[in-house]
Amino acid sequence: MARGVFITLEGADGCGKSTQAGLLAAAIEATGRETVRLREPGGTKISEKVRAILLDPANAEMVPECELLLYEASRAQLTREVIAPALERGAVVLCDRYYDSTYAYQAGGRELDEGLVRRANELGSCGLSPDRTLVLDLPASVGYARATAGGADRMEAEGLAFQERVRAAYLRLAEEEPGRVRVVDASGERDEVASRIRGALADLVGELA
Ligand code: TMP
Repeated sequence: MARGVFITLEGADGCGKSTQAGLLAAAIEATGRETVRLREPGGTKISEKVRAILLDPANAEMVPECELLLYEASRAQLTREVIAPALERGAVVLCDRYYDSTYAYQAGGRELDEGLVRRANELGSCGLSPDRTLVLDLPASVGYARATAGGADRMEAEGLAFQERVRAAYLRLAEEEPGRVRVVDASGERDEVASRIRGALADLVGELA
């Protein structure tokens, strides 16, 4: 059976991912392909419950290992319940965050051991990797100001230095895996950024209007 295409959008908080995911999903749908838009953590009944625990500012005492395992638990459920079946049907799956977020936030931001986070990612993703990952890149201070304008969730409450480490980790990943991970400049007008994103996917999904 033809496998679909698995695309992930990544970036530090406030980089504009959710807006861009909506625009991109609409552009892909317009080609007539089945498009499945998801976000992490979340996307299944169980994963949304795990998301609520992860982002609740009242859970300030959560230890880094608990946090890592909850992100992986949410991912494993989403991967087996939704992503893998959609790819088997031939759909384009567009996921707002996936295992590179765990690398950037738990290894980069939290400074957990990198090898350990990579092994946890293998388990949480059930071995399923994206075909293309776009990192929306902005100076951390710009993204952070945007993300926290209406109040901060538990992760955003970690502060600007944390977001700087997250950004640096994403840029390292793009250097390590240039075929899969592409950095997209997220500054400027919304439509300009959308056009850069479509350009970085043309070889996988064809030209998008
Ligand atoms: P978002 O839906 O606003 O992007 O919120 C998800 C938050 O969780 C965001 O701060 C990034 C963080 N996160 C991790 O720390 N590790 C992960 O593996 C994922 C998927 C998200």
